[in-house]
Amino acid sequence: MGFELAGKRVLVTGASSGIGAGLAVAFAQAGATVGICARREDRLREVLARCTEHAPQSQMWVTDLSRPDEVDALARDAVAALGGVDVLVNNAGIPKRRHVTALDIATVEAVTMLDYVSPVRLTLALLPQMLERREGRIVNVSSVAATLSSPGEAAYAAAKAALSVWSEGMAVDLWDRGIKVLVVYPGVVDTELFTLPDNDPFTASVESITVEECVASVMDAFAKDELQVYVPEWFAAIAARKAADVGAFLAGTAAYVRSQS
Ligand SMILES: NC(=O)c1ccc[n+]([C@@H]2O[C@H](COP(=O)([O-])OP(=O)(O)OC[C@H]3O[C@@H](n4cnc5c(N)ncnc54)[C@H](OP(=O)(O)O)[C@@H]3O)[C@@H](O)[C@H]2O)c1
Repeated sequence: MGFELAGKRVLVTGASSGIGAGLAVAFAQAGATVGICARREDRLREVLARCTEHAPQSQMWVTDLSRPDEVDALARDAVAALGGVDVLVNNAGIPKRRHVTALDIATVEAVTMLDYVSPVRLTLALLPQMLERREGRIVNVSSVAATLSSPGEAAYAAAKAALSVWSEGMAVDLWDRGIKVLVVYPGVVDTELFTLPDNDPFTASVESITVEECVASVMDAFAKDELQVYVPEWFAAIAARKAADVGAFLAGTAAYVRSQS
């Protein structure tokens, strides 16, 4: 049980802001050398400076993970520069708050590509060197949307659900191979995700938590080698209620949406 982070190499995707930036700094503070990546170079530089205060060998890559060739290049570059990747944190993601009647297939494909296919691609590229060492950790940042079928988010929820189910299947396949998988289910964390363009406004009346609170819960679950963590934790009870009676849950959600319109 547990995973000693001192001296380990951690690659965090989507680390230019929000949860990814917070996790990158937390892993650096815990003694790991951190590799961070995203598209916005200026924001990455700020996060890298916070990481190198604790872990001077930390590095950054400006990359667009919606492009398969850039995902492959990131895997190669990270292994070459860091000497290997012990912990992969698949955090980069985009929201898609859009009613199903307004979705087109290109949008669904783009969301699926970044939120599901890209982390799977990066994982498959980095898995062999973890298997060789018989040690590794993979943290996949999903969403409560994956289990709660959040209204107006079908494309996003489906991509995150795919990531969750993939993670569980992978955890089983790798059970005795020294590699553990943690799935993170954030609820509403106060980040830029809710102000990105090309999304419907976020209207759900759910109290948000801070990035710091989210990061603390993830690091705690990581230290305990847990398989999943809901942040905040009370979302796990809602997911359990849905699982117990899907029909009642979906009917209740639809009634709530009707009452709001
Ligand atoms: N905030 C929440 O309440 C919440 C709830 C559930 C799940 N999540 C999940 O948590 C993760 C982090 O989101 P966040 O809330 O911290 O929002 P955020 O601040 O917008 O972070 C998203 C990160 O992903 C990166 N990213 C987006 N598109 C990318 C691309 N094509 N290539 C490379 N990097 C890309 C962004 O960097 P660049 O723009 O610089 O590329 C940014 O660093 C996401 O997977 C999100 O779905 C968040």
